[in-house]
Amino acid sequence: MTPRKRPEDLRSHRWFGVSDLRSFGHRSRLRQIGYDAADFAGKPVIGIINTWSDINACHAHLRDRAQDVKRGVLQAGGFPLELPAMSLAEPFVKPTTMLYRNFLAMECEELLRSHPIDGAVLMGGCDKTTPGLIMGAISMGLPAIYLPAGPMLRGNWGGQVLGSGSDTWKYWDEKRAGKITEEDWAEIEGGIARSFGTCMTMGTAPTLMAIAEALGLSLPGASSIPAPDAGHPRMSAACGRRIVDMVWEDLTPAKILSPASFDNAIAVHMAMGGSTNAIVHLVAMARRAGIPLDLARFDDISRKVPVIANIRPAGKYLMEDFFYAGGLRALMQEIRELLDLKCLTVTGKTLGENIGDAKTFHPEVIRPVADPVYGEGATVVLTGNLAPRGCVMKPAAAEQRLLKHRGKVIAFADYNEMAREVERDDLDVTADHILVLKHAGPKGGPGMPEWGMLPIPKKLVQQGVRDMVRISDARMSGTSYGACILHVAPESFVGGPLAFVQTGDEIEIDVAARRIHLHVSDHELARRRAAWTPPPPHYLRGYGAMFAQHIGQADEGCDFDFLTGTAPIPEPEIH
Ligand code: FES
Repeated sequence: MTPRKRPEDLRSHRWFGVSDLRSFGHRSRLRQIGYDAADFAGKPVIGIINTWSDINACHAHLRDRAQDVKRGVLQAGGFPLELPAMSLAEPFVKPTTMLYRNFLAMECEELLRSHPIDGAVLMGGCDKTTPGLIMGAISMGLPAIYLPAGPMLRGNWGGQVLGSGSDTWKYWDEKRAGKITEEDWAEIEGGIARSFGTCMTMGTAPTLMAIAEALGLSLPGASSIPAPDAGHPRMSAACGRRIVDMVWEDLTPAKILSPASFDNAIAVHMAMGGSTNAIVHLVAMARRAGIPLDLARFDDISRKVPVIANIRPAGKYLMEDFFYAGGLRALMQEIRELLDLKCLTVTGKTLGENIGDAKTFHPEVIRPVADPVYGEGATVVLTGNLAPRGCVMKPAAAEQRLLKHRGKVIAFADYNEMAREVERDDLDVTADHILVLKHAGPKGGPGMPEWGMLPIPKKLVQQGVRDMVRISDARMSGTSYGACILHVAPESFVGGPLAFVQTGDEIEIDVAARRIHLHVSDHELARRRAAWTPPPPHYLRGYGAMFAQHIGQADEGCDFDFLTGTAPIPEPEIH
């Protein structure tokens, strides 16, 4: 066991604890803010990385919660400093927040490195903020604890429960089919998001918050607490108290994360019926920790772990119900045989100790393994000549008739063409067709936008069709549903086979065999490849140009090549 640190071992000691010209400047500037030696001398400095902003409704409460964290830090004898970071509000940031996940990761890492910080509380929740903050914290390597923003309350419209995203897509199709009025639609707009907090269906945000807890990076039960619940500020203060001890114990992410902890996170992802986005983010986080993780591992674990969280879009309920049913600790209790309970966590205890005697209070919401929502293969990885490096699908949220299917392709060159064509009344399409969208991957989107749930063509919606096979190199919101095949790698923009698919080709998918096949001969594919010219870059300067130059493919986690791995970075010189 590592001996507890002494004050002179603290990283911040180099800024504040020595007696030289520079440290005089540092101390005098703290005094300028109004702090005295009693506030900071010899105390762990805790950086509170806060992704609050005025435009991020999911994080509207994080400004207040930062005060709760500070309360906890002070109680435990630390010195809290709040450091704002990019907010990444999923609905507002264009072209897509995924363009900026790595930006936030860099910001988090460099904020911690460049300041006199000994440990960090990471405040996030809205989709990309969780992986961005955790990737940055892993790379920096200081003790860190992740504070999840928590899900918002259930939506409501005319006595019906509404879920983020899922019910937006559902009622949009009802409106396109003429089944609801403009007035209904306006009322839904006012009722679907009725408190601060993240999406409350099993979208990317609840999935990633649960994954952070399963990895051992959050306090037990933290990820399930609804944002407006009084338990949330209590949990925030507890994070503040705990991180101070973590600094003295030097409990870094490297001591917590292991291949087994990532397996636990994947198992929890599967049991939650989690967002497909989690795959890209987990691969990226693992690579930051120097832990090999490929898509095949997800498929292996998905075959063993059933979906037991009965949450939309794969199930019926919402995150608020999940909390009342016992939350993530109860879910992990149900699948404890499938977890490595010996993994260390931020509490300094094992995952098994954190789960303790957690109980399920509503077995309809958190089902027993023997009576799951979906048997196995909640999220599957398919490979074949169309996706040599894999693609992913969430069969649990698709019409089961489409899991073995062969159909003729309608191919769209880009999003704008697709958006125009699906509204045409004379589009030559049937429910058995397969829609293919190109140029929606990491470089093509750019940023791999959530375009993967291609709209069902209006003509079919009016006939009552609600699902069909759709294939792209895009991602899809975790709140989305349907037979959508995503993350095709390599992507079309860089000359992956998807680039050569044409309208009229046939594609066959067989989920049970984990196979996807484009029925075009190798000879013909080679001919099309030879005639292909790469599209011009989206950006000639700026962050976008750097992104295009360094971004990895979906199966690599879409990290920048210069950010992956564990090569040491020197501490800043203090001159
Ligand atoms: Fe922020 Fe869904 S929009 S979590």
